[in-house]
Amino acid sequence: MKKIVIVLTILISINTFAQKFEGLAETPPLGWNSWNTFGTDINEQLVKDVADKFIELGLKDAGYEYIVLDDGWMAKERDANGNLIADPVKFPNGMKALAEYIHAKGLKFGLYNCAGSETCAGYPGSRGYEYQDARSYASWDVDYLKYDWCNTEKLSAEGAYMTMRDALKAAGRPMVFSICEWGDSEPWKWAKEVGHLWRVSGDIINCWDCEVGHGSWSSWGVWKIINMRKDIRKVAGPGHWNDFDMMEVGNGMTDAEDRSHFAMWSMLASPLIMGNDLRIASKETIKTLANKEVIGINQDKLGIQGFRFSNENNVEVWLKPLANNEWAMTFVNMDSKPIEIDFDWEKHEIGDDLNGRRMDTKNNTFKVRDLYNHKNLGDTSNNLKVEIGVHDVLMVKLEKI
Ligand code: GLA
Repeated sequence: MKKIVIVLTILISINTFAQKFEGLAETPPLGWNSWNTFGTDINEQLVKDVADKFIELGLKDAGYEYIVLDDGWMAKERDANGNLIADPVKFPNGMKALAEYIHAKGLKFGLYNCAGSETCAGYPGSRGYEYQDARSYASWDVDYLKYDWCNTEKLSAEGAYMTMRDALKAAGRPMVFSICEWGDSEPWKWAKEVGHLWRVSGDIINCWDCEVGHGSWSSWGVWKIINMRKDIRKVAGPGHWNDFDMMEVGNGMTDAEDRSHFAMWSMLASPLIMGNDLRIASKETIKTLANKEVIGINQDKLGIQGFRFSNENNVEVWLKPLANNEWAMTFVNMDSKPIEIDFDWEKHEIGDDLNGRRMDTKNNTFKVRDLYNHKNLGDTSNNLKVEIGVHDVLMVKLEKI
């Protein structure tokens, strides 16, 4: 009995001491990641150009902060002491110099690795090197680690991610810990104490609602991911987010589809991580990505993930409660022809059962603000009447008058 008590006490105290860094992602992280456009074809100049574009295009001003290098930044082998090294051809000045460049612009720097023996693209993984790798990242002034799940054989996901969390903590430099386990072992059930965000699906692809098979795995279009994981909203909140994957805005869908994608990621309180080539982005793409009114919905300090209110007649209607008893509401036209919305506020009970919040339009009037067109559309004493184009969106904020 005594022994059991001692073992239990030790286990409980280990658990109490092991912690992630708190206070790093009180609202969903905003940034850019290299993978969706560049794969492993990345280099120092590209990253510097991206950092410059953050400033030039007003993206930093809109709130974007992290520049994250995904798979392919390392040399194929560790050095003689087992340390990770940056690919000397792609990154001739190493990671610390790159971090310095990014920090000098007031931005933050992220890197990628993997819980397995190798990364998904076949570079050295962190398995067995967790503490050593965490010390390298800390010595290079890294601010964010995305940690993948390839080549993990029979590892327990929870255990593997806890090990890396503890390694980061021990290395002593606060880093956002981005869990990329694709939702396989339901991280929303255990990752709140482990990381700041966790992927909820396999990889995104730049289409509206498709699935592209690759043998043992699939890539998923925007609406496939939304529909797959719309029911896990209660676990999201300040410091711990469902990550619906890096965005495909600017990567080939129509401008309307990009607007809807961006609106939905904002409604879902997903991290907003751009995945396009900022050096050649169109004006329309930047207009979408840098829309402060839409980003404001994503960054609302309550951190409540939005939910589907209805999906009838090819219109998806989503709601997100906001601070100060305000609401965000998003109508997406799923049809292949334009649609007329005629929404009668009197006829709908708007509320969120998860937290008992209600929008009382019978006793109060709310101003209706169109967040993409930056104009007021009257108030809730009249029906909301708008035409929405194919796969386009109407996103409004409702503020009590
Ligand atoms: C996995 C991840 C992607 C990307 C690649 C890199 O597929 O889910 O986001 O990091 O690995 O190889």
